[in-house]
Amino acid sequence: MAHTAADRRRIAMIRQFCARFDAPPTHLSRAPGRVNLIGEHTDYNDGFVLPAAIDRAAYVLARARPDRRLRLYAVQYAAEATLDLDRLRPDVVQGWAAYVAGMADELSRADFAIGGADLLIDGDVPQGAGLSSSAALEVAVGAALLALSGHPPDPVALARAGQQTEHRYIHVRSGIMDQLIAALGRRHHALLIDCRDYRSEPIPLRPDVAIVVCNSKVRRELAHSGYNTRRAECDEAVRLLRERLPHIRALRDVDMAHLEANAERLPPPILKRARHVVSENERVLQSAEALKRGDIQRFGALMNEAHRSYRDDFEASTPEIEVLVSTAQGLPGVYGSRLTGGGWGGCTVSLVATDQVEQVCSRIAATYEREVGYAPEIYVCAASDGVTVQPLDADQQHS
Ligand code: GLA
Repeated sequence: MAHTAADRRRIAMIRQFCARFDAPPTHLSRAPGRVNLIGEHTDYNDGFVLPAAIDRAAYVLARARPDRRLRLYAVQYAAEATLDLDRLRPDVVQGWAAYVAGMADELSRADFAIGGADLLIDGDVPQGAGLSSSAALEVAVGAALLALSGHPPDPVALARAGQQTEHRYIHVRSGIMDQLIAALGRRHHALLIDCRDYRSEPIPLRPDVAIVVCNSKVRRELAHSGYNTRRAECDEAVRLLRERLPHIRALRDVDMAHLEANAERLPPPILKRARHVVSENERVLQSAEALKRGDIQRFGALMNEAHRSYRDDFEASTPEIEVLVSTAQGLPGVYGSRLTGGGWGGCTVSLVATDQVEQVCSRIAATYEREVGYAPEIYVCAASDGVTVQPLDADQQHS
């Protein structure tokens, strides 16, 4: 039988694993990247998001070790590392290995006994593009470590450990959307997630509408500092609003009427950040309703509004992103287009009629190249399942 691309990847990874660690792997874990359709910077405000897992993922081959070591090899970096499970601390290792250290540490702190392992890591989520390659890595590694130690899969525990890894090991105060969708994604569906209680509802995506992701290839230089600053500004908005509205716990508890009535209490930039988050929560709920009705026109209009708010009130866009979004929004066949992910570069997401995808992609690429000076990368993404861990049988181990 002909090998699929996934078979070929697995076989190549298994060969490298055996050569490096002198024994075959027993498990293959896979966790996807994500594209957020709408709901930006709402997650850490206890609000709503509507992401989809994509058909690009982090892959981890794993085998238990009898000692307390994690031996690691990252194919994409051609780099190895060894960690001692009894000496995991932030800031000892940097880069990709810090994500693995963080997951092992955070799962242990959440009372999952984690044993030693050999792990070979690969992936095809574009890095630094706002498609959550790091959440994919965290969830894939965490799921492999849980499976090797005999724990049943626990998507919410994995997501929380991933978020804590971002906070303590990477020093980004991220929300929990990326890890939750990497753990819980559903094929052909977007997920409406309530980030206060982690409840989620899969909403079917229409087969005649494609998810087109355009990568500006702008390095997200400001991403870490800008992200943490915005989060602090949202906290400040809550602190000031609580003086009048003591019942609120997060911007999730504020509506536009509250905000307008108390606008004079907030310095102008803080008011703008709060206005983005409060209006964005409303848009997410409205867009989920539109998607359930199959009303993709309305959904697209809400995406366009969300972009305006993200650019003007949250001030997280860049000139290159504006070229991508304004070009897409002006093309026939495009329902809506916006900056997706943490902000300050990365990717846009557009919903496009499937029979117009080719024309739309080539027109966006041509305009971007003309105005920015180089070509964007464009991915037409399929909404995919969340994390899976597959035990490998003897045939697969030696394939
Ligand atoms: C990043 C964070 C998420 C979320 C988005 C913005 O992807 O990791 O938690 O806050 O930015 O919506």
